[in-house]
Amino acid sequence: MDAIRIYGGNCLKGQTTIQGSKNASLPILAATLLINGVCEIDNCPEISDVYHMLRLLTSLGCRVERKGTCVRVNTCGLSVCDMPSDSVGVMRSSIMLLGALLARTGRVCMEYPGGCVIGARPIDLHLQSLRKMGVVIEEREAEFCAEVSRLKGAVFRLPLVSVGVTENLVLAAVLAEGTTVIEPAAKEPEIQALCGFLQKAGARIEGSGTQRLVIHGVRTLKPVRYRVPADRIVAGTYLCACMCAGGRIFLKDAPVCHMESVLSHATRMGAAVVCEPDGIVVDGKEHECTCNRLTTGCYPMFPTDMQSPVMAVMAASAQRGCIEETVFENRFRIVAELNKMGANIMVRGNTAYINGSGRLCGAIVQAQELRGGAALVIAALAAEGTSIVTNRHYIDRGYEDIVLNLRELGADVELA
Ligand code: UD1
Repeated sequence: MDAIRIYGGNCLKGQTTIQGSKNASLPILAATLLINGVCEIDNCPEISDVYHMLRLLTSLGCRVERKGTCVRVNTCGLSVCDMPSDSVGVMRSSIMLLGALLARTGRVCMEYPGGCVIGARPIDLHLQSLRKMGVVIEEREAEFCAEVSRLKGAVFRLPLVSVGVTENLVLAAVLAEGTTVIEPAAKEPEIQALCGFLQKAGARIEGSGTQRLVIHGVRTLKPVRYRVPADRIVAGTYLCACMCAGGRIFLKDAPVCHMESVLSHATRMGAAVVCEPDGIVVDGKEHECTCNRLTTGCYPMFPTDMQSPVMAVMAASAQRGCIEETVFENRFRIVAELNKMGANIMVRGNTAYINGSGRLCGAIVQAQELRGGAALVIAALAAEGTSIVTNRHYIDRGYEDIVLNLRELGADVELA
């Protein structure tokens, strides 16, 4: 039962509600470690990555209670600083605990983190930056140990824009001695959410949402309640589902203000999108496609996490298209699987050339990572006949219930 069966050919019609953001929840859960007391995080998605993060917090001595999408984290019992390797190994975001744990306990030992196989994804910059804040790190073959008496603020001129490094440094800096400057900082909405949570708890952060973050360390933070924003990538995935299959859907709670580049590309690719106060209405195939080229980049550019779902749309269309991937070097793993469904996609360097024939056919295909897996499911909506996408557990890392959501949108899908 680790697969999804899709009967292709149904036009979509219906409404679904967009879950809370995975990439905002994970660093916010890590941030609770900085606060002595009980924090309540609302709208925390019920996905396996969040489940792994909660297990990690529990194994560090925190008490975690979960009622649906509301999570209470009590960090008063925080004691352990060695992270269990089974959770660290499966989730790259476990690196996020490093900055927060060092701030609270001064010592952390952990294995090198895992996560989606979408490139080399080193952690060199995380470690190098923390060293600059006074952390002594001893690297061994499979794990490393980091130690510091009190983190010291520092001025960073980073060689690249990294979401994870920005988040880790913010987490390390809020309780550090003195001021930290991070430039260029990532501007992703998920970083704005993390800063929003920390500011509510009493952190002094300037420049949230800009490429220059200035953080003045404070002595303590107070427990807070915070609501995680909706997931722009999940909303974008269902938007692409409608562009693959056609039809008209309503994505309730879709975070319109964080989806500008995705919505403008969708419009140029032929969808009609109307923004309502509580979500978006999508007409999947309303207009002629006027542009089928895109380049991924840091926010506010086109998100790399939306690259595979859009490739599925291009593969199902009758147009030529091309996608340049500039963030991760190994993010074209779905190409071979889409080609099994009759697509004609060729990769040269960091660019994929898609020769849409307007026809995909059902096939058995394998999810190999989170967003690519979801993209195969939505491509199958446009295919003739039945498809099976195996390795559903990759998709479960980021989608609460893709089968239920797509059924609400009128698709004929089931667990297999
Ligand atoms: C986060 C997101 C992921 C998204 C990505 C880019 C989470 C949990 N994950 O991943 O969904 O696709 O941002 O928007 O929020 N790099 C280094 N050295 C380092 C760290 C990163 O070279 O120490 C490189 C990476 O290999 C990559 C680039 O920096 O080429 C950007 O990666 P980064 O922004 O750090 O991605 P993540 O934080 O892993």
